[in-house]
Amino acid sequence: MELTDILGALADGEFHSGEELGAKLGVSRTAIWKQLQKLDEIGLRVDSVKGKGYRLPGGYAPLDAREIQKVLSGKSAGLLAELIVEQQITSTSSYLSDLARVSPRSGVVCVAEQQTAGRGRLGRTWVSPYGRNLMFSVLWEFDGGAAALEGLSLAVGVAVAQALSGVGLDDIALKWPNDILHGGSKLAGILLEMQGDAAGRCQVIIGIGLNVNLPDDAPIDQAWTDLTRAACPELDRNKLLGAILDRLLPLLQTFSSSGFVAFQEDWESFDAFNGAPATVRRGDVATEGICRGVASNGALQFETANGLEYISGGEVSLRPLVDGR
Ligand code: BTN
Repeated sequence: MELTDILGALADGEFHSGEELGAKLGVSRTAIWKQLQKLDEIGLRVDSVKGKGYRLPGGYAPLDAREIQKVLSGKSAGLLAELIVEQQITSTSSYLSDLARVSPRSGVVCVAEQQTAGRGRLGRTWVSPYGRNLMFSVLWEFDGGAAALEGLSLAVGVAVAQALSGVGLDDIALKWPNDILHGGSKLAGILLEMQGDAAGRCQVIIGIGLNVNLPDDAPIDQAWTDLTRAACPELDRNKLLGAILDRLLPLLQTFSSSGFVAFQEDWESFDAFNGAPATVRRGDVATEGICRGVASNGALQFETANGLEYISGGEVSLRPLVDGR
C-alpha cells in the first residue's frame, strides 16, 4: 500500500473507521494504523476520535499535472516544456539543477508534495508538511550571464503577486529583494540559483515556496502566514500553481528580452516598504535608512545618512525599523 492510497481514502476530510479504511484498501486494520503513523511522520495531522474513526482535517487534493495545465493560456502552455509532479524529493530546485546539467532548456517545471531538503535564502531550510503547500521550481535559460539576471527575482515576485491578486487575494505586498507578504507576514519566498556560463548562456532555477495551509506550530523562525489564514478565495493548489505559471512563463520570456525595467513599475505598485525606515544587513554590517523604491536594475534605493545608496541582491536582508528603531 502506498501513502497516496491512504491519502486518497481520507481525501474527503470526513471520518472513516479503521475497519472501513481496511476494507476499502484491502488491508488489515494494523496496516491502516501503520500508514496513519506515517502521515503523522510527514507532518500531516490526522484526527482520531473514538467511535468515529480517522479524519484528515481539510481533506487532501493531490497535485495533478492535468489540473495545473488546464489553467494555462495558449501562450503559457506553449512555453511549458515539461511539468514534473513528484511526491517526495530532496528539493525541486536540486532536481532541476541536476536536470539542467544534462538537458538544459527553458520552461521545465518541477513541483513536489514534500521536500526532504528544501532550501531557503541565506542558508535557511524551507520546511512544509506533505501535500499542504506549494513548492516548485522553474528552469529557464538566459543569454548574457549574471548581468542579464539583475532584478530577475523581483520580476518573479511580480508574477506571483499578480497571480495571487488575480485569484482574489487583496493586500499582497513585495518586500525587497524577494519575499511575498500578506498583512506584513511572509506568505511566499523566492530563491534563484544560477549555473552554466556566468558571462554567457546560463540556466536559472527559480524556486518558489508558497504557504497554503501550515500547521499552527510550523517550525519557521520568522513572521509567517498562509493563504488559508489570509482568507484567499482560491485554495486549490493546482489552480494556484496554474495561475502562477500562467503569469510567470510569459514574464520570463519578456524578461529575457527586456530585463527588469519592464516590471519596475509593477514591482513598485506592490512595494511594502516604500518610504519606510528600515535596516539593511549585509553579513555583520547593518545600515539604517529609508526605502525609496527600486532602480531600473532592481537595486534597492536606500536613503542613508551618506545619501542615496543602491543595494543589490545576494546575501542581503531588509528589516523594518519599528517605531523608528
Ligand atoms: C526564501 O528563503 O524565502 C526562499 C524560499 C524558497 C523555497 C522554495 S520551495 C521550492 C524550491 N525548492 C527549494 O529547495 N527551495 C525553493
